[in-house]
Amino acid sequence: MSGTTQPATLYPVPAEFASQARIGSRAAYDELVASAQADYPGYWAKHARDLLTWHKPFTKSLDESQAPFFKWFEDGELNASYNCLDRHVEAGLGDKVAIIFESDDGIVTKVTYKELLGRVSRLANALKTQGVQKGDRVVLYLPMSVDGVIAMQACARIGATHSVVFGGFSAQSLRDRIEDAGAVLVITADEQKRGGKNLPLKAIVDEAIALGGCDSVKQVLVVRRTGGSIPFVEGRDAWLEDVCAKESDVCAPEWVSAEHPLFLLYTSGSTGKPKGVQHSTGGYLLHATLTTQWTFDLRPDDVFWCTADIGWVTGHTYVTYGPLSCGGTQVVFEGVPTYPDAARFWRMIEAHKVSIFYTAPTAIRALIKAAETNADVHPRQFNLTSLRLLGTVGEPINPAAWEWYHREIGAGKCPIVDTFWQTETGGHMITPLPGAHALTPGSCTLPFPGIDAAVVDETGKEVPWGQGGVLVVRKPWPSMIRTIWNDPERFKKSYYPADYNGKYYLAGDGAIRDAETGYFTITGRIDDVLNVSGHRMGTMEIESALVSHPLVAEAAVVGRPDDLTGEAICAFVVLKRSRPTGDEAKQLATVLRNHVGTEIGPIAKPKDIRFGDNLPKTRSGKIMRRLLRVIAKGDAVTQDTSTLENPAILDQLAQSN
Ligand code: WTA
Repeated sequence: MSGTTQPATLYPVPAEFASQARIGSRAAYDELVASAQADYPGYWAKHARDLLTWHKPFTKSLDESQAPFFKWFEDGELNASYNCLDRHVEAGLGDKVAIIFESDDGIVTKVTYKELLGRVSRLANALKTQGVQKGDRVVLYLPMSVDGVIAMQACARIGATHSVVFGGFSAQSLRDRIEDAGAVLVITADEQKRGGKNLPLKAIVDEAIALGGCDSVKQVLVVRRTGGSIPFVEGRDAWLEDVCAKESDVCAPEWVSAEHPLFLLYTSGSTGKPKGVQHSTGGYLLHATLTTQWTFDLRPDDVFWCTADIGWVTGHTYVTYGPLSCGGTQVVFEGVPTYPDAARFWRMIEAHKVSIFYTAPTAIRALIKAAETNADVHPRQFNLTSLRLLGTVGEPINPAAWEWYHREIGAGKCPIVDTFWQTETGGHMITPLPGAHALTPGSCTLPFPGIDAAVVDETGKEVPWGQGGVLVVRKPWPSMIRTIWNDPERFKKSYYPADYNGKYYLAGDGAIRDAETGYFTITGRIDDVLNVSGHRMGTMEIESALVSHPLVAEAAVVGRPDDLTGEAICAFVVLKRSRPTGDEAKQLATVLRNHVGTEIGPIAKPKDIRFGDNLPKTRSGKIMRRLLRVIAKGDAVTQDTSTLENPAILDQLAQSN
């Protein structure tokens, strides 16, 4: 691959960046790739020894004996919280700022490593006092906050497995996750503040538990955020600050096996309910640390800012674990990019002298739009010269947005790392290393050293560069998903299906490699998973939510391209009564949209709802989603529809917008 001539559209690595980067050339990258190829388990073992502090060293790197349930560093013992906190304090970095927190209303608080360790230890002791034991699951339903990071770290400290539920999910979704995880304790806050509004959290926890099936929950600890008055259930609920006040700020870490489950994180698949992706402690923390060092090139004097919420995997790996494991300083932000105005990000970068900025393409697109219509929120009004590196995650970035990000935010000098990965992969899989890879807008370039990604056909055979196919990972890697909680069979079926060779991890995305450079471009999901504003959603989940409404007979959900959110949710609905039109259709669409909001959460509300007398089906009764996608996009159906039971329905649906 190296030595090939690169097309002119590539942005070369800025010499100044390369000269001081950890991985400072394409040759250095190629060497790492070669060393991983030469001794795969040895390559990862070396980094695991170099980057993590082990209580008991491991003797074996990779165990494939129960494939695809792979194990890494299994007889080694460590603690994630020790690696993120104690070891930096012990190295004399106790007074270094770990977190610069900015609240929704602009109040800034700084927390040092020593303070963070003390607060994590207090909560860890409190959890123990409440009876939480190693291996127990703790659900966190919290705002983006220092408390959120502390709660995750406190669980890790005592070997409890955390499962964070994004604060935008509904009571029903929260209930499902609490029940599936069998959580013994829930940590929440009275309310959260976002975009100037106070939104309930504790009340939703109460509602979730009242829905039933949550008998495992013995305690609810509540962070006081807004001071709003909220009812407490006697004997079950307590203020977190009250229980912590009684505890010591010293807590010995619980040493756990590298394979001990650090967390579960629920994510959407193409079928059924969201699945609890189970991650390990050692392998996961290794990749969180290594990618923070190589992809983000994090230095002791950097100010890192990942804007993701801790409710998503990006907030796990690149807020709670990666930057702290590396002893870095990071910004944690409670609010939203558009409050009080769409310059919030740029103002914060200037104020906190952020040097590495990592966000989602959706946010960039929204801020471009705002800057185009209002000069006051244009980034050129702000001093962004502290920036040296930019990143994106969660969805494909369109080249126009990439160019704007590069030019307006990065002043044409900051590399952009377009990082492709998934909840299941734990950390970056395909991404530029900023000192090594020339960049092409819209391409995540090449696999992280040690990751054996390939584009294959249905038989698992690699396709030539320039030809599209399915993205797989051919070798297990340390931070990969270990299983689906409570459902190992579904794990095998979802990620190691018999097609595509059965031995490869199936990512669920399509990809194509550039014919000249071999650079990867992700072409989108190949299953029924939508990506709306970088949030993953299963079409089946939304369909189930729709048909749970008493008026709905049938529903089919597809995605359609959207300039701002990447994809938009489009639902085709058949009611149990006659098809509504005009104002009535509008009203019913609002009712159904709100119903989906209650069932799943506001992020799952369909943008378009179209009513039909029926849905396009084959004679065997299968819904033709392919055709629905065409209609949702507003295109004319040119495909052959002769296999349809009811071709006339297409015209009706096309006109029902
Ligand atoms: C998509 C988020 C293109 C992809 C970390 C993947 C991307 C899904 C990129 C995982 C990217 C993520 N370019 N597509 N750089 N990053 N995706 O689990 O479809 O929330 O399968 O993890 O997002 O979403 P998840």
